[in-house]
Amino acid sequence: MTDKRSLRKIMHEKRNSLSSHEVAKASGKIVERLVNLPYVKESRIIMSFMPYGNEVNIIPLNEWILEQGKALCIPRVLDGTNMDAVKIDSIMTGLVKNSYGIYEPSKDLKPIEPEKIELILVPGVAFDINGNRLGHGKGYYDRFLLNRSKNAITLGIAYSFQVLDSIPHDEHDVRLDGIVTESEVILLNRR
Ligand SMILES: Nc1ncnc2c1ncn2[C@@H]1O[C@H](COP(=O)(O)OP(=O)(O)O)[C@@H](O)[C@H]1O
Ligand SMILES: [Mg+2]
Repeated sequence: MTDKRSLRKIMHEKRNSLSSHEVAKASGKIVERLVNLPYVKESRIIMSFMPYGNEVNIIPLNEWILEQGKALCIPRVLDGTNMDAVKIDSIMTGLVKNSYGIYEPSKDLKPIEPEKIELILVPGVAFDINGNRLGHGKGYYDRFLLNRSKNAITLGIAYSFQVLDSIPHDEHDVRLDGIVTESEVILLNRR
């Protein structure tokens, strides 16, 4: 099995080679699946993310969450290892670019208590059919997810090419409850 670093490189190259049309088309299907998912419809406090580069464009879902009157939380990097999440009222205001070039809530906003979040949408570089996730290599989500509510649902958001049969994972890697891609919704009945 390839190691995490090599897999990150391979998957980054694949994602970087997507055209803007391919990103838009797949992202549209993923958002369509998400708004029809009971977990998404029923959750009132949702943590999503702001896409970086060719990541799935989930911004239309973020707008939908706000339109529905649900609470939208977006991650914010605190230092080289930790992040928190902040409830934002608008995608247009209150977000600034961080050191990684990702839009995040500005420093002056107060974080939400992680255990209040009902649904957490998790970006990633690769996933496997057992819910394992490979991130960018800093472990931000692994640490953040330790503080989630035991009732919270975690869903990976990915292109179908990012979901493999098996990926390298370690003891500290937090497994997700499901993965949503343009071609399928994978739910791992772990609860
Ligand atoms: N809960 C944790 N507590 C302490 N260190 C952690 C924790 N989760 C991850 N790490 C550390 O963070 C680093 C990156 O983790 P890794 O799983 O490779 O990254 P990613 O999940 O972003 O792909 C590793 O050195 C790992 O030991
Ligand atoms: Mg990890």
